[in-house]
Amino acid sequence: MKILGIESSCDESAAALAEMNGQKVRILSNVVSSQVEIHKKYGGVVPEVAAREHVVNILPVINEALGIADFQHNHLRPSIDAIAITVGPGLITSLMAGVETAKVLSYAWKVPLVAINHIEGHVYANFIEVEQDDDCKTKSNDNNELYRIIQKREDLRFPAIVLTVSGGHTMLVLMEGHGKYQTIGETRDDAAGEAFDKAAKLLGVGYPGGPVIASEAEKYSSIDGKMPSIILPRPMLDSKDFDFSFSGLKTAIRYQIEKDQEYRLRIPEYCHEFQQSVIDVLIAKTIKAAIRYNVKTIMLSGGVSANKELRRQMASKVELKFPDIIFRVPELRYTTDNAAMIAVAGCYKALRGEFTEWRDLRVNCNLKL
Ligand code: KG4
Ligand code: ZN
Repeated sequence: MKILGIESSCDESAAALAEMNGQKVRILSNVVSSQVEIHKKYGGVVPEVAAREHVVNILPVINEALGIADFQHNHLRPSIDAIAITVGPGLITSLMAGVETAKVLSYAWKVPLVAINHIEGHVYANFIEVEQDDDCKTKSNDNNELYRIIQKREDLRFPAIVLTVSGGHTMLVLMEGHGKYQTIGETRDDAAGEAFDKAAKLLGVGYPGGPVIASEAEKYSSIDGKMPSIILPRPMLDSKDFDFSFSGLKTAIRYQIEKDQEYRLRIPEYCHEFQQSVIDVLIAKTIKAAIRYNVKTIMLSGGVSANKELRRQMASKVELKFPDIIFRVPELRYTTDNAAMIAVAGCYKALRGEFTEWRDLRVNCNLKL
């Protein structure tokens, strides 16, 4: 079964082709056109600008994905079995660009549609067959350790707990089987990625915040004999539920830099402490949920799961304390928004016969899992 995935929920126009054989899914092509350079100057995504860019980019991106996949593609009707399309959650005008395109292609090519929840897509980035994990290209001990753990991916068993951390969401999802989700905790205010982006803005280090904060934090880690001078809170670390709250962390940074005349000299330390605070809370809650629900697998997903320290620290914790639990993280290229994850989620949904008629396909910017 071959499925074309289309994604346009935020500021990435993306298309990918996935092939499913048995329970194995391979990615034949994966094309992402990012608008990050356009939105950088505004310090965040401008919805109307994003929608216009999607309209320009979506067809060329789809064409490229079909072309790279190098199969009979005569522009009249490619040999695909279905089109998987993100219908929400996300920015309404951005979602519409992808959804309307998918409807037209479904009608013209006479192929069925599979409606995908964007969060579900992030979760299914963990189900893509690994070719060579980006983390494994270097040979450091830490990466080898992560590599060894990821190798267990063949054994994925349910129930699983999925920590989904992106620019728009922070959720702990209990997955009892394919397509069976229960949200057991979520953020009460800012999402983890949003917190990275806002902290980066306060510190004046750039956009998007996640990658810049991570690289500044790395500079701090490499300093010898350092004396930590900044302490930030670990919000809701000990709360009884599985919810998160990150807006206070941003306020804590603001207060600290307001009274710190020389904060610009300590950017790496601020970034390190901020990142560690987020990681501490994410790991503690995920582990607590894993124990409470007696899970067999822990997975990470979403843009923030690109964070190498989060990946490394979670992997070590699971390996050390819960050697029987399988740990999975998506390959780096499938952590931030892409259409490969949408195509893969589409494969599993198509397998269950869950198709949508083009006439019935609707955008839902507040879609729940
Ligand atoms: O999943 P994604 O591409 O889009 C949404 O669905 O929101 O996630 C984007 C978010 C941004 O907030 C970005 O700052 C964050 O993921 N991010 C990271 C890293 N790379 C991207 N956060 C922490 N560390 C990273 N290395
Ligand atoms: Zn996303």
